[in-house]
Amino acid sequence: MAIMIKTPQEIEKMRVSGIALRKVHDAIAPHVVPGASTMDLEEVAVAKIAELGGKAAFKGYHGYPSALCTSINEEVVHGMPNAKRVLKEGDIVSIDCGVIIDGFYSDAAVTYAVGKVTPQVEKLLAVTKRSLEAAIEQAQPGGRLFDISATVQEICEAEGFGVVRDFVGHGIGRSMHEDPQVPNFGTRGKGPRLKAGMVLAIEPMINVGGPEVKVLKDGWTAVTVDGSYSAHFEHTVAITKDGPVVLTR
Ligand code: MF3
Ligand code: CO
Repeated sequence: MAIMIKTPQEIEKMRVSGIALRKVHDAIAPHVVPGASTMDLEEVAVAKIAELGGKAAFKGYHGYPSALCTSINEEVVHGMPNAKRVLKEGDIVSIDCGVIIDGFYSDAAVTYAVGKVTPQVEKLLAVTKRSLEAAIEQAQPGGRLFDISATVQEICEAEGFGVVRDFVGHGIGRSMHEDPQVPNFGTRGKGPRLKAGMVLAIEPMINVGGPEVKVLKDGWTAVTVDGSYSAHFEHTVAITKDGPVVLTR
């Protein structure tokens, strides 16, 4: 399938969706504290999405049960909110959420430290976030898709971290997943030509240890094979003639 080009009017609608999603993340953030369960966070998200007149994008997607993915420590992505999973000091939790507003999807994730974490884990979060910001800068008309991918890979591997291969970013618009796939690894100067009107969900998933992941028996939760901690940051980014615009900021 071809990469869809959005009109400025459509991108404006995606901006509305992205702003709503940012409000959902902002509502969740103060609840990410020791003693909170991941179901507590889910409840905050569900209430906020309803208040904003949106729809949870993940719930019901291939049978996924929740509005949020809440992935703790060695969980990479797709951890499911659970009243029995209680956050404790020293944990990290990746919170991934998508919403639909007026037919348009947005998708964003952030990894939080719960209280104080080890210096290595602090560095994992900082480097993953920095790789996303640098990758966003590559979302320029006339550039190449794998400039984005290579930027994440170079930054994270230079710090000795493992770049997850089994999950990738994606185009986004009237569906959560459109073409193209946006890997976090690749060769600079290669891949489809980037054009104004493309909207991409860029989402580095980075491990302290090796890049290998496996999915648990619950059919969803992806964890690192070596048990090392994993971080995930994601923004929905529009490519415009003036450069990248982060819709979920
Ligand atoms: N951010 C994830 C993605 O891009 C969210 C999907 S979770 C799912 O695929 F449960 F909806 F699959
Ligand atoms: Co995504």
